[in-house]
Amino acid sequence: MREGIAQLPPGPRMPRALQTAIWMRKAQWLMDTCQARFGDMFTLKIANEGTWVITSDPDTIKQVFTGDPSKLHAGEANRILLPVLGPNSVLLLDDERHLSQRKLLLPPFHGERMQRYGELMGSIAAEEIERWPLGEPYPLRPRMQAVTLEIILRAVFGVDEGPRMEHLRDELRRLLDLATSPLHGTLLTVLGPRRVMRLPRSRRERERLDRPIYEEIARRRRATDLAEREDIMSLLLQATHEDGTPMSDEELRDELVTLLVAGHETTANALAWAAERLCRHPEKLQRLSDEVAAGDGAYLDAVVQETLRLRPVISIVLRKLVEPMQIGGRVLPAGVSIVPSIHLVHRRADVYPRPDEFLPERFLESEGGKAPGTYTWIPFGGGIRRCLGAAFAQFEMEVVLRELVSRRSLAPVRPRSERVYRRAITETPRHDAEVVLAAREQAATPSSSSPAREAEALAA
Ligand code: HEM
Repeated sequence: MREGIAQLPPGPRMPRALQTAIWMRKAQWLMDTCQARFGDMFTLKIANEGTWVITSDPDTIKQVFTGDPSKLHAGEANRILLPVLGPNSVLLLDDERHLSQRKLLLPPFHGERMQRYGELMGSIAAEEIERWPLGEPYPLRPRMQAVTLEIILRAVFGVDEGPRMEHLRDELRRLLDLATSPLHGTLLTVLGPRRVMRLPRSRRERERLDRPIYEEIARRRRATDLAEREDIMSLLLQATHEDGTPMSDEELRDELVTLLVAGHETTANALAWAAERLCRHPEKLQRLSDEVAAGDGAYLDAVVQETLRLRPVISIVLRKLVEPMQIGGRVLPAGVSIVPSIHLVHRRADVYPRPDEFLPERFLESEGGKAPGTYTWIPFGGGIRRCLGAAFAQFEMEVVLRELVSRRSLAPVRPRSERVYRRAITETPRHDAEVVLAAREQAATPSSSSPAREAEALAA
């Protein structure tokens, strides 16, 4: 296709720097405003990111997710994460190298294996929740981060007790703080990933953070109980590429950090949003705790789906065009990124009636609702790049929410809903999901259907 006929859709005329500044603070607002003005497809210009063509049309999104991945590069479009994740990260690769890493990472995330993490997730959540103070305003987001971090450390790294593990835990926490700090986010947007990587301070930090990870990899390679271990690091140590070679230390480091960064903050924010939405809808919260107590998981599923629809923690996914391509009725030039907007497609009134309302029932087929659509419910992106941890994250959200609502009741601190606040690349509740917690009468007997309880009952 000739580049000469390529044509970008309309977009705001303000300078790139201004568009970038607004995007960094109010990405969803900017997309809402542009969609109202320009329709389902519009162009944004973001510093260091080039040109973005944002779309919220389900047919176009389908075309992007099912299109030829060698022409629609996601890895290239995620370059901003390079300094933290490293060059072997599945998130940053394209073509054969992406497929080869993805194939290695998929088995540990398969349904059955993942369910085994249920007991671990339930006991970590229960222990944390029991420590949260009652009867006073309390921001849940940092607490949810503690829960999801512990789950990832134990499930992915197999981190347990002992001083060595404490050190690894502390260093991984520091790495995450760095990755999600606003300063780091600003530096990346303004300087670009390669220049950030060359900054002496960022090099020193990386070396310091990587040291305990490499030490743990070396120790684990020598472990005699590798075959019995269930954690993802141990599984990956035994995995081999198609040519039979094992993963190198560098590959392992980059994938482990990728799983940590991709899976910790996102899930914590999604859980914080679930609490924020539920405490403002007491009747839905009541229904949820009743159904959980009765051992029925359908409403819980729907609450998770509706939270991820109405408050997606990631607003967009990107695919960079390797060559000019006909997309959504126009030819887009090579080098631009086509950007399905998770936020905008989730607010389409033709797909989701009363789109701004929190209505988990919309996903309950037994009540006239519809199952989430592949191209209209996309909190985890789609196609060959769909989030590897999607099932893990939804399962984790269910387990943690089940423990929460069966032990505590939640009331909001402020009368008004919390606004969406952008931190680095995730969208969080402005006041960190501030709630007042109270013990439930049956607090001493957590939900009958929790995986932890089920395991205990079986053992008894
Ligand atoms: C609610 C929680 C989560 C959300 C909202 C989320 C969202 C996303 C999104 C939007 C993408 C990009 C998909 C695309 O480009 O089409 C992605 C990719 C990815 N996510 Fe997640 N994620 C979550 C949790 C997790 C967890 C728990 C893990 C692992 C432990 C994980 C690992 C990954 C990986 C490895 C990729 C890259 C896949 C690839 O490029 O092939 N995520 N995630």
